[in-house]
Amino acid sequence: MHTTPRTPHKFEKVITDDGTVSLYSKEYGEAMHSLSGAYEEALLKHVRPSRILSRTGGHLCVLDIGFGLGYNSLALLTEWSRSDRPGNLHIAAFEKEIVPAKLMDAITFADDRDSIYASLREAAVNGHAARQGYTIDIHRGDARRLIRAIDDISVHAIFHDPFSPAKNPELWSVDFFREVYRVADERCILTTYSSATHIRMALMEAGFQIGRGPSVGKKREGTLATKCAEVPPFTADEIEKMKNDIKAVPYRDSRLTGAKEEILALRKDEMRIKKGLQARQ
Ligand SMILES: C[S@@+](CC[C@H](N)C(=O)[O-])C[C@H]1O[C@@H](n2cnc3c(N)ncnc32)[C@H](O)[C@@H]1O
Repeated sequence: MHTTPRTPHKFEKVITDDGTVSLYSKEYGEAMHSLSGAYEEALLKHVRPSRILSRTGGHLCVLDIGFGLGYNSLALLTEWSRSDRPGNLHIAAFEKEIVPAKLMDAITFADDRDSIYASLREAAVNGHAARQGYTIDIHRGDARRLIRAIDDISVHAIFHDPFSPAKNPELWSVDFFREVYRVADERCILTTYSSATHIRMALMEAGFQIGRGPSVGKKREGTLATKCAEVPPFTADEIEKMKNDIKAVPYRDSRLTGAKEEILALRKDEMRIKKGLQARQ
């Protein structure tokens, strides 16, 4: 008798402290969200600090990098619909591996978020969903390739939410951030949960000004990045200290096709060289 081998599950369900579900990825060895609250993290680390809802203009466009379970988009659309704001919101999301529909189907909130989440589930299955006042496109594939295909839009907010830099360096390199910089409009704010020095340096090297993001729950403060908007600033001394720190050497991925191991190894080499130069001074 033959038995069909079971496909190993890539994700395990985790209930976070605000009662919302996250997924632990066996591939990355990490949960998708802070265990102190998955939905809370989306709202407080991304949507609110991006200040997208205080932007004027009839048509706003948000880039959601690393769609995952879609909580960043959900928190945005929920705030948007509760605000009764006129105009249209478009979300373009990038995701390498769409979460299986049955996992998204099992997520409920028992409030107005359920009908909005249904539209995100629809977009996860069909690539697109539209409702009164908003549209969402989920582009499937490597965000490094997808972002290069954007040539005619100005993005008003960017939720940058990959797995951690050490596990997912592909989306934390200077070269990827340069592409992100290219599509951002002048007052766009990029939000990310990382406070690592090499991530802040990568953002600065890509052209962004950086600022402090809020700290939520047990997590440290995040980072905000922008061309021209006001963000809680670092002092000149803090920036100088970052630049001289050996740990500030950023990830590089000049062709935007490097494998994770390659990107990690390149950084190690550059750190070794910088250390040698500093020792000689
Ligand atoms: C921390 S989770 C995102 C959580 C999500 N923002 C949410 O609100 O549920 C990171 C996501 O980034 C995706 N990802 C990782 N590398 C990627 C890449 N190169 N291109 C596109 N998506 C990627 C992963 O598949 C995963 O879904």
